[in-house]
Amino acid sequence: MPDIKDIDSLWQTFSADLAGASTERAVAALRDRYLGRKQGSLTLLFQQISHVAPEARKAFGQRLNEVKQRIETALAGQTAALAATRPPAGAVDITLPGRRPVIGHRHPLAAMRERIEGIFSRWGYAILDGPETEDDWHCFEALNMPPEHPARDMQDTLYLEQPLERRLWGAGASPGAIDRATLLRTHTSSMQIRYMETHEPPVRIIAPGRVYRRDNLDVTHTPMFQQVEGLVVGEGVSMADLKGTLVSFLRELFSPQTTVVFRPSFFPYTEPSADIFMSCFVCGGSGCGMCKRTGFIEVLGCGMVHPAVFKAVGYDPDRITGFAFGMGIERLALLRHGVDDIRAFYDNDLRFLEQFPL
Ligand code: DAH
Repeated sequence: MPDIKDIDSLWQTFSADLAGASTERAVAALRDRYLGRKQGSLTLLFQQISHVAPEARKAFGQRLNEVKQRIETALAGQTAALAATRPPAGAVDITLPGRRPVIGHRHPLAAMRERIEGIFSRWGYAILDGPETEDDWHCFEALNMPPEHPARDMQDTLYLEQPLERRLWGAGASPGAIDRATLLRTHTSSMQIRYMETHEPPVRIIAPGRVYRRDNLDVTHTPMFQQVEGLVVGEGVSMADLKGTLVSFLRELFSPQTTVVFRPSFFPYTEPSADIFMSCFVCGGSGCGMCKRTGFIEVLGCGMVHPAVFKAVGYDPDRITGFAFGMGIERLALLRHGVDDIRAFYDNDLRFLEQFPL
């Protein structure tokens, strides 16, 4: 049988619920829960009046009306209090999550260059920058490339026009004449010469940068691309140092399981010279499209610095030895990301670039 205590305990639970209602929406829900026309807890008690003992009915009804009043007043008070804290129309709602601006990320080639620089700088190498316009001496002559060397051919190298003052005043100069002495460097190996000319051994450097060749654009060629040159010179630097360094480098750059293979090769500025191949990280060496079914991919050129190069920079080849290496950044990035067209790196198509968050 309903009792007046039921009304008092309902008031108790209502008070606790109201204390926890911190939004206008929560207060509205409370009104439904207690005063709802069909299922409201207080409404249900009103419907119970006929079951109350006749002598208690009057007091029960009075208490119900009184509690209903109190509930309504409390609800209205709470709603008003919450409405007062509501921001005025048009105000900035600082509780909304912020809109994240698109801030972009590293270009895949920059990311690859920075990874390479990171590995070598941890090993104590200095990182050099140098000119992209070069002279014949630094790019070819001092690197033991004689005048008839094919790399010096106009077919391969981009030579620059003579500077204006030379064209105007120089002996025998003619307008628009090509200056065979000023060119866009075809490789970063020129930085070996620039550094050794101005520093005594020991040397431990890498030189990343752009290089230029007279190539037409296709899936594997761009007329401008990027290389990283490396040079280590000192007393007793050996082929074993070269091997250890470059094997460790490739295992760090790709994976510790990488197999590295050296194959004899030729560069005018190194003797002996080698091409380095690494096991294909797509198929692990069993042969696939990436490695043209050979299981191996060529990634680096290297060798022991030729004595003629040391002589050109005034180092004593009887006292010191060294090793050098060169690698293409685009090539390493193509391999690492499984991209099959080098031009994609330079098209600046965001749909392509957005795929490389690192
Ligand atoms: N200069 C070479 C090229 O452009 C790369 C290279 C090979 C650099 C062997 C070196 C080296 O220092 O020892 O393909």
